[in-house]
Amino acid sequence: MITLRGNFFADTARRTMIAASVTDEAWAAEVASRTDGPYLFVAEAVLPYLHEPDVRRVLDLLSDRFQGSLLALDTAGPGFFDTQEQHDALSKVAARMHWYCPGPAGPAAWRPGVRVLASHTLTSLSRTLVDELPVPYREMLSVLAAQRLPQAEGYRLNLLRLP
Ligand SMILES: C[S@@+](CC[C@H](N)C(=O)[O-])C[C@H]1O[C@@H](n2cnc3c(N)ncnc32)[C@H](O)[C@@H]1O
Repeated sequence: MITLRGNFFADTARRTMIAASVTDEAWAAEVASRTDGPYLFVAEAVLPYLHEPDVRRVLDLLSDRFQGSLLALDTAGPGFFDTQEQHDALSKVAARMHWYCPGPAGPAAWRPGVRVLASHTLTSLSRTLVDELPVPYREMLSVLAAQRLPQAEGYRLNLLRLP
């Protein structure tokens, strides 16, 4: 599993970290030289901070270099994007999100052969998965579900199979 952390790429099986921008081909070459896969890439709260051409570049990079791999990524809807300046936490930091989309269908259509295997909001996760979470997380999800905040409903956790 390769975690696309902020400016680092962690191969959790081998416990290595590579410092690089996610758009930089060098990290991909290094990962490919170390392992044959199969690959699961996980990007949480990283891609929405890029501009769309850079997100496309990342999808192309992963598709070209790691054919057939899985990519788990989160997407933020327009409601999230538009309210950053008013958000209680996001407004306190200098970083701003630049890429938003209503769901994974948009990015999946950028590249022929990309398949959306799953897509959920935090309140539409399967019961089986939720039951395995620690109690504080289950409580948070239940409070979120009751509030039905538009921003939260526009935030999705997605799993793509790359061509
Ligand atoms: C909200 S934090 C998410 C942290 C992430 N979930 C993790 O586990 O490290 C956003 C991160 O995106 C990183 N980031 C922004 N642009 C990036 C880029 N081009 N390549 C890699 N990381 C980037 C920032 O450095 C920041 O650490």
